[in-house]
Amino acid sequence: MCDNFRSMKPAVLVTKRIYPEAIAYLKEHAELDYEESDDGMPAAELARRIRGKRAVVSQLTDKFTPEVLASLDGIQVISNVAVGYDNIDIPAATRLGILVTHTPDVLTDTTADFAFTLLLAAARRVVEGHHFVHSGQWTKWRVDLLVGQDVHHRTLGIFGMGRIGQAVARRAKGFSMRIIYHDSRRAPEALEKELGMEPVSADQLLREADFVSLHVPLMAETRHLIGARELRMMKPTAILVNTSRGPVVDEPALAGALAQRVIAGAGIDVYEHEPQVDPGLLRLENVVLAPHIASASVDTRIKMSMMAAENAVAAIEGRRPPNLLNPEAWKKTSG
Ligand code: DGY
Repeated sequence: MCDNFRSMKPAVLVTKRIYPEAIAYLKEHAELDYEESDDGMPAAELARRIRGKRAVVSQLTDKFTPEVLASLDGIQVISNVAVGYDNIDIPAATRLGILVTHTPDVLTDTTADFAFTLLLAAARRVVEGHHFVHSGQWTKWRVDLLVGQDVHHRTLGIFGMGRIGQAVARRAKGFSMRIIYHDSRRAPEALEKELGMEPVSADQLLREADFVSLHVPLMAETRHLIGARELRMMKPTAILVNTSRGPVVDEPALAGALAQRVIAGAGIDVYEHEPQVDPGLLRLENVVLAPHIASASVDTRIKMSMMAAENAVAAIEGRRPPNLLNPEAWKKTSG
């Protein structure tokens, strides 16, 4: 292909490393500015590198505030490699006619698997057991050695009955659990029946659940959904699992509640100020901590990268991107 033709391809910025399959696909359709590192970039550099680009393939660490969005010149689409999009001010993007896309569905089961992994690991003290054996402390069998909580036939309370919440409920059914949930929208009756789950108030969920698993998006209404008050309402034997977004939980309040055994344990994948973790949590044994990896299986991360690349290419080629979050922006720009 001659250079002249190549330079006519629309320009796309990829802000951080993604899987090579997606890069190869993008290169077929666009002139790439690829930041092939895991560092991300400060807002000013992001704005500078976006200049002259038609699309940006972003990640959850790229913050698109109204100010950053207003400083972007000529950008047509922000394609986030994540299902969550709390790093992008969607109403501001819509006002500016910038399309925003995400990567739903492909990570649902992977994330639900991991929520259940954290639930089981915290309940059955898997990480404590691992350290115990590894450090040579295991010298005899004891009737109450590292006893934990049963999972089967216990009550699971799910906040947020969207795609991932439902996938977690399906897993819970396999463990013969009672499932209660709280959501601003009631799940379809057929689904409630199929999974044998019951909608309850937030307070009832907190009081009755042996395990509380969070699957809500981060919004003003869900910021600190779980704080000191909610933790006090939970059973002293209860376990909290968070694979949603860090700020859904008041992290210092959780560290305090775990230290004082207000609740028995937690399995946490996301943090209020990632990658920083509240030092209080780091001192505790009754919490299993993971580095935001709920969707991190090889297959899923490749699919997410590809999906984001396809969303970006669709937009720059004038097609409606398949995973569009703000159709109003499409109406504005395609009309
Ligand atoms: C998401 O997709 O929102 C996850 O948090 C990152 O995989």
